[in-house]
Parts: sequence; C-alpha cells; structure tokens
Amino acid sequence: MAAPYYISGIHHVTSGVAGAQEDVDFFCHVVGQRFIKQTILFDGRANIYHLYYANRNAEIGTVMTTFPFKQVGYTGRKGSGQVKITSYTAPESSLQFWLKHFDKHGVEHSGIYERFEKKRIHFYHPSGLEFEIVGDDSDKREGYVTEEISDSEAVRGFHSVTMSVRDVVEQERFLTEGLGFRKTGQEGQYHRFEIAEGGAGKTVYLVHEPDVPQGSWTFGQGLVHHVAFAVKNDQEQKEIKDYLEGLGYTDVSDQKDRNYFHSIYVRSPGGILCEIATSDIGFAVDEPMDKLGHKLLLPPWFEHRREEVLATLEPIKNPQIRD
Ligand SMILES: [Fe+2]
Repeated sequence: MAAPYYISGIHHVTSGVAGAQEDVDFFCHVVGQRFIKQTILFDGRANIYHLYYANRNAEIGTVMTTFPFKQVGYTGRKGSGQVKITSYTAPESSLQFWLKHFDKHGVEHSGIYERFEKKRIHFYHPSGLEFEIVGDDSDKREGYVTEEISDSEAVRGFHSVTMSVRDVVEQERFLTEGLGFRKTGQEGQYHRFEIAEGGAGKTVYLVHEPDVPQGSWTFGQGLVHHVAFAVKNDQEQKEIKDYLEGLGYTDVSDQKDRNYFHSIYVRSPGGILCEIATSDIGFAVDEPMDKLGHKLLLPPWFEHRREEVLATLEPIKNPQIRD
C-alpha cells in the first residue's frame, strides 16, 4: 500500500505547565500569542484547564495548547523520548528585540546562536518547558501584535519541534516511511526532517541523546505531552491510521472528538507521542472569531457539569479582553 502522504505540517503542540495564570501571562505577554480558547481537559477524572494560544488568525500550525497541572500536582521527568524544544519563527531582524524583551520579563535565554544556518534564541517557560525563536523571513503568516510587540517583531507560528531520542534509526524510519517526512540535513547530533514544501511549520528535528534517560510519558508540569500533525479531514486521517497499522505501528488510537478537530494518537518508536489531527472544523465552532478565548467553554457532553467544574478551577483573567 502506497504511503498516504497527506500531512501538511505541524497542527499543534500540547504541553503540561504549572500555574494557569502564569501560563496565560507568559504566552500573552512574553511570546505575544493570541489567547484563543479556554476549555478543559477531556480525558481523565480531574478538572484541568485546556488553554489554547495561536497567531492572529488562529491558524493550524501556530496553536500551542497547555494543561496547567499545578493545582492537581502532576509531575514527571524530563528526558529522551520527548519533544524537547518547541520553536517559533519571527523575522530575523527582530532577534535583538527578543533578547531585550526576554531580559525585561526576566526570562532565562541563551542569547543568539545558529544551527542549520538559522539564527535562534533558546528560552524557558516558567514551568521549565524549552522554546526557541528562529529567525525566518520566509514565514509570511500574520503575527499577533501586542502593546509590547509590533508586527515586525511578532512570532508567526511554529517553525519546528525537536524530539530527543536515544536512537535515531527507528524514529527516522517512523518520520519518513510512516509520516512522509524527508531527511534534509544533519549538523552534529541534530538531524533535520521536512515535509511538503519544508521550512516553517513543516520541520522536525531529532536530537540524538543516547545517554539521556527516558523521560515520563505521563502528564506533568514542564513536559511536552505530544505534537500533532495536520491532515485535512477524517478520510485522510483514516487512511493514515490504516497505513501506519499496516506498517506494524499497531497502537494507533481510535478517533477522539476534540471539538475543534478530530484526533488519533500513535506512540512513535523513540517514545514521543504523535497525533494526527484534522483541520476542517476550527476554533470558531463554539464562539465567534473576534471573541475567541473570552470565556470558559465546555463541550456539549460536559456542559451539565459546568458549576462543579468552575468551582474547582483557579480563576484566570484573559489580559486581551478590553471590554
Ligand atoms: Fe493534541
């Protein structure tokens, strides 16, 4: 069976963070993202927020989602077998601005360095999550402008994720044969893979870290839980599920209804959880585009528990509401 190479790039990245308001403030004020959705984690028994941030147009490929786990105390170990770095693009000329901006907000960062001929700044989320800004002028997606971040500085969307693996070969096979990526370079312990046209939003790096112990697969503060790759619709998703199972990756999950997209999940050989998510529903399904993220939204099957859910969650304030 020929590979159904429908994946267009990264759909979203989902990570565990610590405090809820701390996370809102970091993404809204420091990274300068638009807060597009407040909902709750659909799996499990505890009530936990699920917060979504994106660029100006809430585009697939710019969406960062977080679970603030501080209230329920979920922790885990960072290590190999996880997404280690989530990278955003911004205009290359803005990198000096970002250094000053991080200093102003007390954000720990690396200064400017270069890998695969791209200038970058590595920085930390308060929960310990690792991020990068990658200078990339070819990314024409619309950034979100804030009081501190102008259009010529704003991040555009995801550039890539970097997966830490103890062994490259089988993870490379999963990315290329399974998902349809091409290997396009290696620089030391870093291996670059691209899909479709490549570049911003269509790049995955493997970093070979044979001596780093396996990290937790559980939910935890400061851990990336999974990366999602985008397909158009249920039909493409079903063909990829059948194809992966035919290759021997038999733990592909059944389809889950995430309200804003439909998802399947597969554990990759390197340990990283990968999701394949559809792009044909979107975030305006339960609130208007100009009011995204303004209030806590529950899926229809949770609505009868609204009072109980609200009573257990840390109150949060969306700083982007100026009513
Ligand atoms: Fe996801």
